[in-house]
Amino acid sequence: MAFPQAFLDEVLARSDIFDVVSGYVHLTKKGGSYFGLCPFHNERTGSFSVSPDKQLYYCFGCKKGGGVVNFIMELEGLSYPEAVRFLAKRAGVPVPEEVDQEEGRRRRRLLELNRTAARYFHDNLKTPQGAPFLSYLQQRRISRRTAVNFGLGASLDSWDALTTAMTGQGFSKAELLASGLVVQSKQGRLYDKFRGRLMFPVIDVSGNVVAFGGRVLDKSEPKYMNSPETPVYAKRRNLYGINLAKKTKRPNFILCEGNIDVITLHQAGFDNAVASMGTALTTEQIRLLGRYTKELVLCYDNDGAGKAATEKAIELLQNSEFTVRVLQIPNKLVDGAPVKQDVDDYIKTCGPPAFSALLDGSGGHLDYQLTTLAARYDLTDDQQKVSFAQAASALLAGLSNAVEREIYAGRAAELSGISREALLLEVRRAAGRRQSRERRQEVRESLQPAAARQPKERAFRYDDPRSAQAEEGVLQLLLLDEGLFAACDLALEEFSSPMLAGLYRQMLQWRQEGRTVSPAALTAVSEPAVSEHLARILQRPVTLANAPQAMEVYIGTIRAAYQIRQGDPLLAAKDIFKNKKGYGGKQRV
Ligand code: UTP
Ligand code: MN
Repeated sequence: MAFPQAFLDEVLARSDIFDVVSGYVHLTKKGGSYFGLCPFHNERTGSFSVSPDKQLYYCFGCKKGGGVVNFIMELEGLSYPEAVRFLAKRAGVPVPEEVDQEEGRRRRRLLELNRTAARYFHDNLKTPQGAPFLSYLQQRRISRRTAVNFGLGASLDSWDALTTAMTGQGFSKAELLASGLVVQSKQGRLYDKFRGRLMFPVIDVSGNVVAFGGRVLDKSEPKYMNSPETPVYAKRRNLYGINLAKKTKRPNFILCEGNIDVITLHQAGFDNAVASMGTALTTEQIRLLGRYTKELVLCYDNDGAGKAATEKAIELLQNSEFTVRVLQIPNKLVDGAPVKQDVDDYIKTCGPPAFSALLDGSGGHLDYQLTTLAARYDLTDDQQKVSFAQAASALLAGLSNAVEREIYAGRAAELSGISREALLLEVRRAAGRRQSRERRQEVRESLQPAAARQPKERAFRYDDPRSAQAEEGVLQLLLLDEGLFAACDLALEEFSSPMLAGLYRQMLQWRQEGRTVSPAALTAVSEPAVSEHLARILQRPVTLANAPQAMEVYIGTIRAAYQIRQGDPLLAAKDIFKNKKGYGGKQRV
């Protein structure tokens, strides 16, 4: 989606990176930059830097970097247009495409109504009628703080409490009906959809309240009620808890079934939990999750419905970029008999450390994987038994913990009827193969220092790393000092990297239009992977003292490489010679 340039400029001008980042990270000054603890990875010493001059951030630890838009995309987990809108809202710049569009206005009104209703429900907790809800929360061991975090509230046991309150706030009948919070009787009277229920606002990645769930306090039915589909809410595109989970520093997301499961997990420190709210996982939800993680832990109920949901999710995630693990909550024993429990029960009876062990120990998922693996073979057949043993060993060889390997080898032995010793032997062999493969890979990488200079994004890999390195140098210099454009006569086609050429094209165009060419502006209009790479280039040490000479060397290198690509060996040889000398001498630039 293209925003008008003037609007983007305005948003950027009013979104100073230091101000924006300071809202999230405590920054202290060191030289010309600011440093703080990186919000994108766990660390004790601040390797996260912000340069107010360049309007860029860069983390020397996790190598994430970019401009203010990238920062918001990464931190708030937003897409590019969402991040621009987020900053526009923060800076009070009206978003042009939404200004006079009726559709946009209606959506904004609905979101406003939802937010007002959420606040109203929440405030009800503090009234005398809120008392039973507070004691219910207490009974479910949901703290005051967690209730605030999730914006929990109460719908009163009344036919029109919400309708009256919202009408009083200026919302029209049509708006109330469109929100799904209010329904119309056959006689045409409006009444509240949610009555006497503990209210759970569903909040999307941009922080909008898009829907509600409501739970009864007693045993009546239906236990939960949810908002219908509305212009601002599509059930299949949302996940409960995503607004909080998107900020997690944990490497994966936990997918569970229920609202309370999510709340309990967050309260116990597992801030990476989301719920599909009792429905099967959809491809849209998977795409949404893909913005934040590539690893999912399925933690559905240990009952028929939960197992079916797990199977369906696994099927949907097959051949996707996700690693999927299944965490099975063990049944609890009551008087010697197994009784089903969900995540919420488990954490409350066994405690967060026990859950953490389930999560890391990945015991649940290995058992699960072994069982599903075994189901694929006919284990009465000897040949298939051998195949199963090999597949199982490959799986177990991935475990770094030798004790775990032994335990699960025992489990695989049980499943297949192969002796435990034979299986363990096979596992060790597979582990050995794996280790030597990994070691060879390490050596190979250490022999190729140039590889480290390659962009992280595969699609942008340099065909000609030497030329590309010089192209990066040119861009770095031009972005550091616009005056150097005078010393740069490179043509677009002389670039070897299409990605870098794209950046150069944008810079030339802005020059032609008489606009300022700044790192901030460039990162703001580039796709995230490009911005990130650009930030990496720009944080490399450089001085402007001998910049014109450096520019000359870079240009020479690029031209020589270009001519080789064009098949002019004579010219190429001459230039290479010249540049070899120069390049070596100017490396210290
Ligand atoms: P569960 O019945 O497993 O409830 O439904 P729960 O999450 O354990 O709830 P508590 O612990 O009894 O409070 C799982 C999810 O399915 C949706 C809700 O989102 C619920 O959290 N659901 C359930 C409904 O939408 N409607 C229902 O009637 C029941
Ligand atoms: Mn439950």
